[in-house]
Amino acid sequence: MSTAVVTGASSGIGAATARRLAAEGFEVVLAARREERLRALAEEIGERARVHVTDVTDADSVEALADAVDKCAVLVANAGGALGFEPVAEFDEGQWRWMWDANVLGMARTVRAFLPKLIASGDARIVVVTSIAGHQSYPNGAGYTSAKHAAAAVVDTLRVELLGQPVRVIEIAPGLVDTEFSTVRFEGDAERASEVYKGLRPLTGEDVADAIAYAVTRPWYFTVARMDLFPRAQANARDNYRAPDEAGGAAR
Ligand SMILES: NC(=O)c1ccc[n+]([C@@H]2O[C@H](COP(=O)([O-])OP(=O)(O)OC[C@H]3O[C@@H](n4cnc5c(N)ncnc54)[C@H](OP(=O)(O)O)[C@@H]3O)[C@@H](O)[C@H]2O)c1
Repeated sequence: MSTAVVTGASSGIGAATARRLAAEGFEVVLAARREERLRALAEEIGERARVHVTDVTDADSVEALADAVDKCAVLVANAGGALGFEPVAEFDEGQWRWMWDANVLGMARTVRAFLPKLIASGDARIVVVTSIAGHQSYPNGAGYTSAKHAAAAVVDTLRVELLGQPVRVIEIAPGLVDTEFSTVRFEGDAERASEVYKGLRPLTGEDVADAIAYAVTRPWYFTVARMDLFPRAQANARDNYRAPDEAGGAAR
């Protein structure tokens, strides 16, 4: 049975991906900081799941994760997120430092730690969850968009550097997905977070997991280099259609 390591598996896209990859027949290693969440998910998935508490902003923690996994064919580097929503003129250094550490360095640390095992698998797939924010910008989002642009640049570079190796490098770039992402961004302000999805039907973590499952189950010679995933009501990182009279926008 092939092993898939999923970072950021304690909620949202990562949790849905771990569930889905287990259903596809992978043994899954669930990595994130919140142990209780990981344990609950592992119990739900059953014997195919293992937990490893990991903080991707800590190089030793990422190395310990890699040391704890004997074999790895699929790495889903998904851990990350956004903090804050201010113009550049007012940016918060602590928030930007965290975003760059988690989304860029954290992802690169994880790839570096697992690369020898991935190559040894003979058919490695590295999936990096970036964002449409890795390719387009929007006002008040520069801390996050700059971090995700950097992450996308790392992914492009990796694909060239690994040419000739048995590794496929896959970028998943979602738009609006209804997870804990906005609650984290607005530091627990649920009302502000719900405004992000108001009047439209966002994607779910399961929708993104479906795309990841497709990408990692293609035959060995077929690389899904990048997938941009939007709800129908989204055209790019800035333009959304919001139905004026609906709270949830279920049919929109
Ligand atoms: N939701 C969206 O609209 C959207 C759109 C495009 C891209 N994305 C990207 O998708 C990825 C997953 O986000 P999500 O939407 O599923 O949000 P989420 O529900 O907030 O999940 C974020 C995950 O990342 C983990 N994480 C954060 N910092 C970490 C750290 N230092 N070490 C280890 N794990 C860490 C969290 O776990 P712990 O807190 O337990 O550590 C959690 O499992 C992120 O990279 C995000 O930027 C999201």
